[in-house]
Amino acid sequence: MKILFIGDVVGSPGREMVQQYLPKIKEKYRPHVTIVNGENAAAGKGITEKIYKQFLEWGAQVVTMGNHTWDKKEIFEFIDDAKYLIRPANFPANNPGKGLVFINVNGVEVAVINLQGRTFLPAIEDPFTMIDTLIQQAKKRTNIIFVDFHAEATSEKQALGWYVDGRASAVVGTHTHTQTADNRILPKGTAYITDVGMTGPYDGILGMQREAVLKRFLTNLPVRFEVDKDGRAQLNAFLVTIDDKAGRALDTKRVMINDDHPFLI
Ligand SMILES: [Fe+2]
Ligand SMILES: [Fe+2]
Repeated sequence: MKILFIGDVVGSPGREMVQQYLPKIKEKYRPHVTIVNGENAAAGKGITEKIYKQFLEWGAQVVTMGNHTWDKKEIFEFIDDAKYLIRPANFPANNPGKGLVFINVNGVEVAVINLQGRTFLPAIEDPFTMIDTLIQQAKKRTNIIFVDFHAEATSEKQALGWYVDGRASAVVGTHTHTQTADNRILPKGTAYITDVGMTGPYDGILGMQREAVLKRFLTNLPVRFEVDKDGRAQLNAFLVTIDDKAGRALDTKRVMINDDHPFLI
């Protein structure tokens, strides 16, 4: 089983990259499942129903979220009907939506989990105890368990990876928007990468217009961040091959597409 994961899609430049490159990536690597992190898909903050449906149309099976989950208010209208949209499972228990979904790929079940860290992010429920419960739930149906851990601190991401080594098939980090080169398979079989990187503007700062971000650093005055739509775009993704029965990772691969790292067929 090959699972492709596309990192945080930021605004229209990110969505265009998914539309343009997902078919080519699929042709080259033949993933059985594609997961997209969509927390920044609508103008950099949140997601709309239209965009969620577009991701499915373009070839994703699951869309994960993060700290920007609730930024577009219309999500409250459609999240309960969006079967394949998951948000961090450790949000307060009364929040709408869910953090675990199962998909069936030619008779093989895959569990996808979304969690959020709480170091330098809001103090939500403990992702470590939450993942114990989620893995227990998932294991009743499958050994293939894929986790998108949306977190700021590298230490927290590494800790969660090691915590579930041998229990989850893959833990991929999102949120920091820059791909890390530390992809590996931990000793008991869990694939790991600290951050997959983002999909969207290549010449902005984490996807936002440079001028605004620089103004914030130079003046400390409040500024409005907008998605950088004028520059070039990039796509960052992660590919993991998993043994169907045992759920162990067999191979990992980073995918980085930008003008400095062109896509080669
Ligand atoms: Fe993000
Ligand atoms: Fe985020």
